Amino acid sequence: MCGIVGIIGEGEVAPLLVKCLSRLEYRGYDSCGLATLNSVGIEIRKDIGPVEVVASRQNLDLAHGSTGIAHTRWATHGGVSRENAHPHFSCDRSFAVVHNGIISNHHILRAQLEELGHHFSSTTDTEVFSHLLEEEWRPGISVEESFVHALRRLEGTFAIAMISAHDPKRIFCAREKSPLTLGIAAGANIVGSDVNAFLSYTRQAVLLDDGEYAVVSKNDFRVKEIATGKSREKQIVQIEWNIEGSEKAGHAHYMEKEIWEQPEVIRRAMEVSQQEIVSLARLIVEAPRKLLIGVGTTYYVALFGQYLLASLAGEFAPALSSDEAANLALPDPDTLLLAISQSGETFDTLQGLRMAKAAGARSAAIVNVPGSSMTREADLVIRQNSGPEICVISTKAAMAQMVLLTRLAIELAYLKGRGREIQAFKIIDELDRLPEIFETMLKDLQQRVRRLALQYKDKRNWFFLGRGIYTPVAYECALKMKEVTYLHAEGMSAGFLKHGTLSLIDPETPSIFLMPPMEEKALYDLTMGSLEEVRARSGPVIAFNPNEERGKFDEELSLPKVSPWVAPLLHLVAGQLMAYETAVALERDVDRPRSLAKSVTVA
Ligand code: AGP
Repeated sequence: MCGIVGIIGEGEVAPLLVKCLSRLEYRGYDSCGLATLNSVGIEIRKDIGPVEVVASRQNLDLAHGSTGIAHTRWATHGGVSRENAHPHFSCDRSFAVVHNGIISNHHILRAQLEELGHHFSSTTDTEVFSHLLEEEWRPGISVEESFVHALRRLEGTFAIAMISAHDPKRIFCAREKSPLTLGIAAGANIVGSDVNAFLSYTRQAVLLDDGEYAVVSKNDFRVKEIATGKSREKQIVQIEWNIEGSEKAGHAHYMEKEIWEQPEVIRRAMEVSQQEIVSLARLIVEAPRKLLIGVGTTYYVALFGQYLLASLAGEFAPALSSDEAANLALPDPDTLLLAISQSGETFDTLQGLRMAKAAGARSAAIVNVPGSSMTREADLVIRQNSGPEICVISTKAAMAQMVLLTRLAIELAYLKGRGREIQAFKIIDELDRLPEIFETMLKDLQQRVRRLALQYKDKRNWFFLGRGIYTPVAYECALKMKEVTYLHAEGMSAGFLKHGTLSLIDPETPSIFLMPPMEEKALYDLTMGSLEEVRARSGPVIAFNPNEERGKFDEELSLPKVSPWVAPLLHLVAGQLMAYETAVALERDVDRPRSLAKSVTVA
């Protein structure tokens, strides 16, 4: 949802701005640009295209100045064009602005500003802010005062960074319901949408809260409240993330790298302290009502959690997609709401969390990005510590969340006296062995999945089918396929198929069946029943198969034999690889799929 950066330092900042911006590209990549302040004023360079392309076409690196701001865009208001790319100038070119969010009263402000003679160069909501600044500023009024006055006229959501020729030694930035952080380095300070922007340069961060603005100079920063102008004391926090996490490490794409990182990510999820998991389990046991929320991939993770909590611990905790939670959930003080999010900033999930808190509910969150809004707002936070997930398509973060939910379900089972009954220690043993199993499995599957992908890549429609806990995994595999290949894929519970969708099955429509291990006999038989229904309609059947039996399917990917509790995680990896290899075979832009942004911070 747009990434913003600002840097104030000693030498030329443009090359660093470009590097930091490329770290935020997963937030949007339809156009980008930068503005730097130098002896002749503000210089803006921008264009449509991803950072790498625009950087070379517009020589972004060569812009002069030791103060600058930059932006990578995911269009919300106004089409994808050079004019709509950020930064935006005021008429007199003394202010330049970058923004993430939506200024909801922009129509009214624009009309007022046009009446006053302002000329707009774009159709974005953002541009009103640069003109407002020009309107608010006059000799005797500081740039800071103008900034605050202009901010107070905005409605909606924003993370904004601004530079002005009237005050060239500072960057002004503000946050209201869109993420913004400061990176504190020696001889330079950085403004970024999130810590990924500056992780390679500093681990010292200041996390801004909603309703705050900051005035940032080379060696200093001050944070105040937008509404009152009162100063706020802010802590500098240390971000403990692996810098190498942001590099491709020899892989062709971040997606591939992040799939292959999953053994390590599981190890880290297993290192999350037992105490934290027990605390969350206690909250769940004590709450009369519980809800799990997430959206997109994290909704499917929440659904996975719903199945686990029910089957291992006998707890009914319905999963809701957070984009609709407000219409369904009605939390009250008896509710415990568990939010699941990689970024910790997704608008829909954050809104669900805030709504629950406002209603007096208890809240908890499983989150990856340190310092994100959810880590600060939930009553209890489990930090999954999966490292930066750069690819727009979520893989490793979801895996870690599923492992943590499995641990949570086990702790819940213990609290409810069912630990022995479910043989909890065996599941923990399996989870501990999982990284090793994944390492072998990834090597083993790569070539076979590649061959399958080449063979089937021209099929326009796909089904991913499973029963029981394999259903949310089937949803998630289908989402991976859609996001990265642009092919139509539907994830469905295999039992649902016969209630209408079976009419779509034909020889051109492959169905991937997520086969359970045979010892789950009831589930296995039911899945086989659905498979026969597909076969009877001449639908090609591909199986992700953890069983030794062969020859029952048109194609199969054999998976290692593990216990039923961890088997779905192996299917997830197979689905991720299938989506990835199909996208590569179709020559898709894997790390930058069309129309998407990783962190969806708008409603
Ligand atoms: C996953 O591949 C997607 N990019 C998307 O569905 C994502 O999972 C969703 O937007 C939620 O994001 P979050 O985990 O950062 O909250």
